[in-house]
Amino acid sequence: MPLVSMRQLLDEAAKGGYGVGAFNVNDMEQIQAIMGAAVETNSPVVIQASRGARQFAQDRYLYHLILAAAELHPEIPLAMHLDHGNSFETCKSAIELGFTSVMMDGSLKPDGKTPSTFEENVEVTRKVVDFAHERGITVEGEIGVLGGVEDGHGAGGSGLDHVTDPDQAVEFAERTGVDALAIAIGTSHGAYKFTKKPDGSVLKMDILIAIHKHLPKTHLVMHGSSSVPKDLQDIINKYGGNLKPTWGVPVEEIQLGIRNGVRKINVDTDNRLAITGAIRKVFAETPEKFDPRDYLKPAREAMQKVVAERMTQFGQAGHAADYAPLGIDAIIEGYKSGKLDTRPSKTK
Ligand code: G3H
Ligand code: 13P
Ligand code: ZN
Repeated sequence: MPLVSMRQLLDEAAKGGYGVGAFNVNDMEQIQAIMGAAVETNSPVVIQASRGARQFAQDRYLYHLILAAAELHPEIPLAMHLDHGNSFETCKSAIELGFTSVMMDGSLKPDGKTPSTFEENVEVTRKVVDFAHERGITVEGEIGVLGGVEDGHGAGGSGLDHVTDPDQAVEFAERTGVDALAIAIGTSHGAYKFTKKPDGSVLKMDILIAIHKHLPKTHLVMHGSSSVPKDLQDIINKYGGNLKPTWGVPVEEIQLGIRNGVRKINVDTDNRLAITGAIRKVFAETPEKFDPRDYLKPAREAMQKVVAERMTQFGQAGHAADYAPLGIDAIIEGYKSGKLDTRPSKTK
């Protein structure tokens, strides 16, 4: 199966009432772990690469590795997505390379740190949407700013510093025509999201529900959605790591989100924890080993286990064969004719 439009993948998820995990990758083993989980659970999936990943791996490697995944597993609908594009040029280069979907994160300026103005965000996102939709490529935008910093990306601070204003979300969707919208509801990237199990005072599911009521056709995206399970933290600490106690986003809150318009759920940290714990265990228990396969194999298996669990929890499991992927021409035609227009004024 060729790479699939993320828009089609999320439209199908909306029809089926489930969410789709979008998992970050930097290398071959992570791609294999995700595909292993998708095959195991019969799930459609989004594989995404950040700017940091594109630099780390050289994005042409990532592109061809993901293509290999699509080639090896034609039964799995697979979208290839740019995570947190910081400028029009970054998104354009991903599209030209062959990504089927891009995120224009205009909530921050191109430095990836300073919050932008609403007008700046609308302007750059609209420009990416025009360029992308002409080519049948999906666009995710972001309104509001997540907490934390990952790999130099992020405004820092708490997840509550720039929570999304629902009225602005509606205006943003209307003026940009994005296919999917990331919103800030109190989460942060990375392992340190909450200092205790989050309740409604720090994880603003009420805002998400309000936005979905106003924007029923726009697919909502939850970033910073790792659950940071205690068992994964414990493995790292047991084998010489030093993670401080921390809480992530409980799966039941994500499931509440899915019942209220969340179609894409971004997970990276949980997989990083699983990989690191597995490698530490091999190093600690068998220090005589030095063949990378001796620790990369358990690391890949540990990540596959986490991804398969999330696929089941998000509800995408079992849905890989529900639909035939549309060709790029049909997607382009859908955007041209207005059939794929999500703007609130066009979908009433
Ligand atoms: O956006 C956050 C993702 O976890 C990607 O992180 O920028 O360190 O690759 P990264
Ligand atoms: P986590 O750090 O919670 O895994 O979030 C990942 C993410 O949002 C990638 O864009
Ligand atoms: Zn993110």
